[in-house]
Order: sequence, then C-alpha cells, then structure tokens
Amino acid sequence: MENKKIVIGNQKIYMSVNEVGEFLKEITGKVLTSNVVICPTTLYIPYFLKHRYSVGIQNVCEYDVGQYTGEVSAQQASEIGLKYALVGHSERRSYYNEDNDVINSKIKNLLKANIIPVLCVGETSEEKNLFKTKKVLKSDLISCLNKVSSEDIEKIIIAYEPVWAIGTKRIPTMAEIKSNVAYIKDLIKQIYKKEIRVIYGGSVNPNNIEKLNRIDNVDGFLVGGSSTKAEEFLKIIEVVVNQ
Ligand code: 13P
Repeated sequence: MENKKIVIGNQKIYMSVNEVGEFLKEITGKVLTSNVVICPTTLYIPYFLKHRYSVGIQNVCEYDVGQYTGEVSAQQASEIGLKYALVGHSERRSYYNEDNDVINSKIKNLLKANIIPVLCVGETSEEKNLFKTKKVLKSDLISCLNKVSSEDIEKIIIAYEPVWAIGTKRIPTMAEIKSNVAYIKDLIKQIYKKEIRVIYGGSVNPNNIEKLNRIDNVDGFLVGGSSTKAEEFLKIIEVVVNQ
C-alpha cells in the first residue's frame, strides 16, 4: 500500500473552457506529483494530460464495448493514459440511478483496464440521523466489491464521502470521520486480510484542511468545489502532500 497521502480533485461540470485555461496557467509548475490527481470534466481531459498531470475520469461505462452512446469505456480511458476513475459517487447514484451492481461492473472493468477505482461510499443525512452509517457503509462496500479478488482489492481507494457533506460546507466531527474510516479499513481487513487506502470527501476546503489532515487514519482527500479554484486547491495540496 502507498504511504503518501493523495489529493483527488473532482471538478464535476463546474468550469468553462476559459476557466480551465486560467486554472492550468495558475497551477502549472506547482503541481506535478503523482499524489495529486485531477478529474476534470471529461471533455477537458486532454488539456490536463498535455500538461502531464495525473488525471482521472469522473465516470466510466459499466460495459466494455458496444452500442452505448455518450459513454466512455474503462479500456478507452486507460488507452489515453488515465490512471484513476471515480465510481459510485453519490451524484451518479442519485441522479443516474446507479446501483451497487452497476458500480460493481464498473469496478471490475476498471481493474481489468489497470485503472485505480476510487469507490465513493457514504450515508445520507437521514441514515445518519437513524444511526445507520456503519450499516450503510458495510452493505454498500460488500455489494460494490462483490467478487473483487484480494489481489485487486489493494489497488482500490475508498472515498468516505457522506452525502450530506457534499457541497454543503458541513462536515462530520473529526471523531466521526476517524471512526468511519477505521470501520471501513477494519471491514476490508476482516474480509480480505489486506490494508487499503481510505480518503475523506465532502466540503473539504482551505479553511478545514489543516484540521482534517490531522486525523491520523485518513490517507488523503477527495475535493469537489475547491479543486476548481487554483488558489484553494494549491493550499489543500500544500497542507496534505507537500508537508
Ligand atoms: P465538495 O468538495 O464540493 O463538497 O464535493 C465533494 C465531492 O463530491 C467530491 O467528489
């Protein structure tokens, strides 16, 4: 297992092409470590590859090849040089009805294509209020990782991303994050006898990153909104990766 912490930016569809150009100008020369990954809007991926960033894709098709208009396959993503892919993001689950079976197929395709899946799991606010967080984490992880070999499990990164913390400026307490991350790591260890990386996502920003970075079992961060603003993203990288 990699020891260094990782920062992954998920830029969703926030940016115009001009904003991407500006962003690239501002970060160029300052971010070129393999521990910083940018997942741009799919259309903009070539700009980031050209500047030799470590690039991920926000989504791939659950099928390998064929008549799936508008999709990108894991194999295609691999062929152009992508190293990471987000999978199971709550926005995909809620707006595009992705269930754990679809997510499981995507993970298997990604592993076959040699891309690191970043599997997102986390509870809704309702589940949190009903004290169901760990139950949800367990059932989602077990179904999403169904029939993934113990050799492959080590390649996967899990992002603990509470749904209610995404884009809300609200985050769990440090103790809650620590406990849920420990729970995920322990579960994987029990099942696979392997250690995996678990990162935290949900309203990570320059104001809370120092506090979040002190949680000792968190292996990095998945950053949404703040990964689209060069100054904010650089501050987060500075704290997490460059220290
Ligand atoms: P925010 O950082 O904007 O809350 O988004 C988190 C996220 O969805 C990353 O995948």
